[in-house]
Amino acid sequence: MAIMRLGRVEIGCPNWEKSIEYYKNVIGLIEVAREEDRVYLKAWDEHDHHSVILKKNDSAGLVHLAFKCEFASDLDLYEEKLNNYGVTTERVPAGTRLAEGEAVRFVIPTGQTVELYSEIEVVGNGLPLVNPDPWPDGLVGMHPTRLDHLLVAGDDVDGAVKIFTDLFDFHVSEQLVAGENNDVTICKWLFKTNTAHDIAIIKGPQNGLHHFAFWLDEWVELRNAADIMAKNDVMIDAGPTRHGITRGTTIYFFDPSGNRNEVFCGGYITYPDSPTITWTEDTIGKAIFYFERELNERFTTVFS
Ligand SMILES: [Fe+2]
Repeated sequence: MAIMRLGRVEIGCPNWEKSIEYYKNVIGLIEVAREEDRVYLKAWDEHDHHSVILKKNDSAGLVHLAFKCEFASDLDLYEEKLNNYGVTTERVPAGTRLAEGEAVRFVIPTGQTVELYSEIEVVGNGLPLVNPDPWPDGLVGMHPTRLDHLLVAGDDVDGAVKIFTDLFDFHVSEQLVAGENNDVTICKWLFKTNTAHDIAIIKGPQNGLHHFAFWLDEWVELRNAADIMAKNDVMIDAGPTRHGITRGTTIYFFDPSGNRNEVFCGGYITYPDSPTITWTEDTIGKAIFYFERELNERFTTVFS
């Protein structure tokens, strides 16, 4: 059984019309479908129907996140594992949202609603599967290739991490720790694919969303993304800069509803036998922002 990747996030957007315009024209996601209170979007190089759902909501934040499994039978196996572990699950019927098959839904100890699914309509990436060019015509904005990862917050970080490591075979690439014996978890970065992280979990407000991130292929695209942010008066939180953790290059910024986004590029490849890298609290500035070597207050206090 196999979780393959972070498949989708559903994001609350109180600033509805401006948020739709921003994700389509500034980020450069492609609108695939629309309901009265949901807009379904994909990054151009994703083949599935959608990876980002904007939800018309009174508040910003994460409505749910979902990992895609390879087979429908994986849902049964993961469901049994979760139930045996003491986690309550429910089945989300196919068709609850557009183009999606059935999902298994549960809540992790940091408060986020997580779904596992395998079926979703496939729409392709705009390129043929035989003799394709490297990118399709008509891309706008930052046009990231895909949804990459997210950072969520809550109280019981170790409890949430254990769900991913013990039941889903995720691995910890890096950890930020505190305490005299470096045994108090501030944040852990987890991977299931071969990137430096698919999800990270940090001590913070319960059911908090710190950011979700889109992948850019090259460092120069981050500079172009920063230009696009400036042209469109997007509020930049931090960067362009580099992380000590993951070694990725990055910009953090806010959508019109107050959700923090990131564009992320680079970092190392991971394998199941990659060792866990530890950063101690006294190096937190360098760990997060390698060039500046310090955090801005907004970065550590604003969640949606
Ligand atoms: Fe990130």
